[in-house]
Amino acid sequence: MGKSSELSGFYKLPVTDRVKTLKEFVGLSEEEAALLQKPGALGFDAANRMVENVIGVMPVPMGVAVNFLINGRDLVVPMAIEEPSVIAAASNAAKMSRPKGGFHATTTEPVMIGQIQVVGIKDPNRARFEILAQKAEILKHANAQDPVLISLGGGARDLEVRIIETSQGTMVIAELLVDCRDAMGANAVNTMAEAVAPLIEKISGGRVYLRIISNLAVKRLARAKAIFTKEALGGADVVDGIVNAYAFAAADPYRCATHNKGIMNGVTAVVLATGNDTRAIEAGAHSYAARLGRYTSLTTWEKDESGDLVGTLEMPMAVGLVGGATASNPIAKIAVKILGIKTARELAEIIVSVGLAQNLAALRALAAEGIQRGHMGLHARNVAISVGATGDLIDKVAAQMVAERKVRMDRAKELLAELSKS
Ligand code: MEV
Repeated sequence: MGKSSELSGFYKLPVTDRVKTLKEFVGLSEEEAALLQKPGALGFDAANRMVENVIGVMPVPMGVAVNFLINGRDLVVPMAIEEPSVIAAASNAAKMSRPKGGFHATTTEPVMIGQIQVVGIKDPNRARFEILAQKAEILKHANAQDPVLISLGGGARDLEVRIIETSQGTMVIAELLVDCRDAMGANAVNTMAEAVAPLIEKISGGRVYLRIISNLAVKRLARAKAIFTKEALGGADVVDGIVNAYAFAAADPYRCATHNKGIMNGVTAVVLATGNDTRAIEAGAHSYAARLGRYTSLTTWEKDESGDLVGTLEMPMAVGLVGGATASNPIAKIAVKILGIKTARELAEIIVSVGLAQNLAALRALAAEGIQRGHMGLHARNVAISVGATGDLIDKVAAQMVAERKVRMDRAKELLAELSKS
């Protein structure tokens, strides 16, 4: 791309000028720029083909986080989210990461797990052995289901078999490991799991019930790392505050749920903007956070020998660029174009970087001034709008409430009545 993503003053521009800036930054076409500014961009026909019983569409604002430098590339990141402050916070954290080179992210191969549940087996170790002995045959049958995936270099790579104890007795769980390339993979994996089930029944002598993808995608991980200088963060005390905030989350599930929620503010917003499955990513994130038997932080925060802050985030990241809403929703397509990416792995690397940025921003605010000050401005505007303020009055009512530190509906109503008269 070559251009810096530090689009200073972007937030002050009217929406039309932001789209114009973006059009130049990423090379959007006239049609794409026009579509972005059309709230009804997902037409009824498209919506009606996506789900059942369609009666409308639920619009969510989409913004872009600026200042991101990820693996040496400058980019702006589309985020779809209803919560104020999230996009500004991500942009801020991205800016603070730049002195040390921004975010460095990697991914594993895009391998998903397809589970086949076998019950009614008296000698599970014998069954496990025999299923594994027929691995080549089972993988061949799985791969026969999806010639397109194979032609793109993906496909079922391996088979593992676990024996688990359940309230219904011992079960044998066969797991297909499928390289999904640029697809999220649920369709490919579920098709393969269903296809090999009769073979597995025959080999094991058991009865298969479930054949379904696992969202605990431990073989499809994304990792990000960034260093934030103490100067960029506002001093050594802020670094200590953040390390302490992390220790609190790592030790205590009540704090950790909120800590990880903050990470997911960033992660889910990009997942949604690109038309991916937010629930799959959320399920993977929280189950990964509990994979060691205790729920803990998805990020880590440490102080290095210069007193700077080093953050990492590792989590499952089953996102795709082909199939699903990413390919059918026109806004998701534009979001992918804005990111300037060609592979699902690049998308996963961006998402995990945004998650890390989001966590940094939240911890810094919490450890320093508290979260409310940053939230107040937009919240006040929303309250003003909710009591009927329009045009200039929105900002006037909001500013007065913030100045008085009384951001409440009752006060908004009074101010609106007063200011409308004058
Ligand atoms: C709010 O949406 C997210 C935070 O609560 C995250 C956190 O507490 O770390 C600010």
